[in-house]
Amino acid sequence: MAVVTQAAVARVKWLAAPTSGAWLSAACARPDLLLIDHAHCERKAAGGALQLMFRYPSDVALAQVLSPLAREELEHFELVLQLLERRGIALRPLPAPAYGAALAKAVRRDEPARLLDSLLVAGLIEARSHERMARLACVVRRAAGQRSAPLRPVLGAGRRALRPRAHHGAATGAGGGGNRGIGRGLREP
Ligand SMILES: [Fe+2]
Repeated sequence: MAVVTQAAVARVKWLAAPTSGAWLSAACARPDLLLIDHAHCERKAAGGALQLMFRYPSDVALAQVLSPLAREELEHFELVLQLLERRGIALRPLPAPAYGAALAKAVRRDEPARLLDSLLVAGLIEARSHERMARLACVVRRAAGQRSAPLRPVLGAGRRALRPRAHHGAATGAGGGGNRGIGRGLREP
């Protein structure tokens, strides 16, 4: 478990600061919200990939990367929907986090800088998500020995859909909200 914590989080070297313990506590206290947020994350990841494909319709190389990515993210979305349904949790809208909009504002308007910045924003969002997934994975593993741990019933069974994924960031952020937050509802960048 310690290996996952240190190695996975340490690899996310592009983040200026680690996710706070307060965020992790808030996420663990609301596994239902965590799953709902994650569903939106997957949906937005697919949407972000599609958005770029429509923005650059003649870029075949980009489409060859983004098209399978969009499909994969939708498969993730469907997996999370299954988890929600299995647990009787209704999918509902969540407020978009401010940091997604803030990142989108940083995207330059002229090409090719716009594409570059969009991909960089997606990478940042992905990096944050990856870090948070790694931290949550550690919580789940710890919870395996504690029957009362709040995340165990949700994340333990949902490991397949919620495991850390390095590819997990097609959302551009330029679309607002971005993908990563497992904690979109938790409001922390
Ligand atoms: Fe995904």
